[in-house]
Amino acid sequence: MTDYIIPLHKPFWGKEEEKAVIDAMRQGTGIGDLAYSEQLADELASYLGIKYVLPTGSGTAALELACACLVKRGDEVILPSFTFSSCANAIKLCGAKPVFADIDITSYNIDPVDIEKKITKKTKAIMVIHYAGMACDMNAISNIARDHGLLVIEDAAHALGSKYDGSYLGTLSDVGCFSFHGTKNVASGEGGAFVTRDLAIFKRAEIIREKGTNRSSFIRGERKKYSWVSVGRSLILSDILSAIALEQVKKLAEITRLREKNADYLIKKLKKLSSKLILPQITEETEPNWHIFAIRVPRLLRDRVIAGLRTYGIEASFHYLPLHTSPMGRKLGYKIRDLPVTEDVAATLIRLPMYPKLKRSEIDYMVAALEKIL
Ligand SMILES: Cc1ncc(COP(=O)(O)O)c(C=O)c1O
Repeated sequence: MTDYIIPLHKPFWGKEEEKAVIDAMRQGTGIGDLAYSEQLADELASYLGIKYVLPTGSGTAALELACACLVKRGDEVILPSFTFSSCANAIKLCGAKPVFADIDITSYNIDPVDIEKKITKKTKAIMVIHYAGMACDMNAISNIARDHGLLVIEDAAHALGSKYDGSYLGTLSDVGCFSFHGTKNVASGEGGAFVTRDLAIFKRAEIIREKGTNRSSFIRGERKKYSWVSVGRSLILSDILSAIALEQVKKLAEITRLREKNADYLIKKLKKLSSKLILPQITEETEPNWHIFAIRVPRLLRDRVIAGLRTYGIEASFHYLPLHTSPMGRKLGYKIRDLPVTEDVAATLIRLPMYPKLKRSEIDYMVAALEKIL
């Protein structure tokens, strides 16, 4: 692995996380749903203002849990193609069909106009992804869902701490899914969370997440034994990782504030640079968490700019290769040019390093390198 002077991500870890890991190990076995997992669920529930939170082994696990609760064989789920394979896998694993919609050219999020075009009698749900922590047009999407009787799953893997109209992303729909992957704003190496306001969904999720057993209710002391009651999976988070995630959630306000400060400074500097750059656009309703700092450049320059930044030791990167143009996407019947905005964004986007401990001098260095390359 290359050592970069400025890596793309850096977790905001300190003594608190180290102490929590040791403590979790000393407490017992590190299995899931012990004291730290419970505290993590409580802390996140109170931060987000949502009743039901289930820590999961990853963001992927949270998405798989969401689909296992809400989607069945033969259903269709509309989602963007500009996302991670986990989203489409979660749908496919339930025997349902992922239907890709195009994205909006300014937010890089699913386009409500294209969602409406993709609705059929089989459509069961819309899975939205708040790319880079920027909010999807949730008012429009909620209206479409209501009008057509559809469920909404929010993939908020990028979006912990972002707000839309004053409410946290991930809490605006039937189910929200978060990731605590080592690259995310709250990082525990691997990890995630499933959140909902709906008691019936929560009860179903609790069982599926625990290998199809009613063990969660047994742990709460509601029954003397637990047993196999449904088809399930193993989606819980180790208490050792919950301990790290808990410390991270406690620091979330600070993490978001530092990212915002860095993003503001970077935007101010980039505005003076070149008309070739398209900077992040923030809608009036959004308070972003600056999980990803994405710019766009003309298609012919993109790979050269990334390579150039890397020669300066700056880990700039492209992002998702659209799912519909992947080998799996082609097996599902898609072809190049089916989703032109998605393809344009994917071919022109560059992620620049962004994390809380990024220094002003490092941002100056990054901007100076970009200026020389452009
Ligand atoms: C949009 C999106 N959803 C879900 C995931 C999966 O999260 P995890 O790596 O925690 O499984 C990712 C991965 O980074 C992602 O980018």
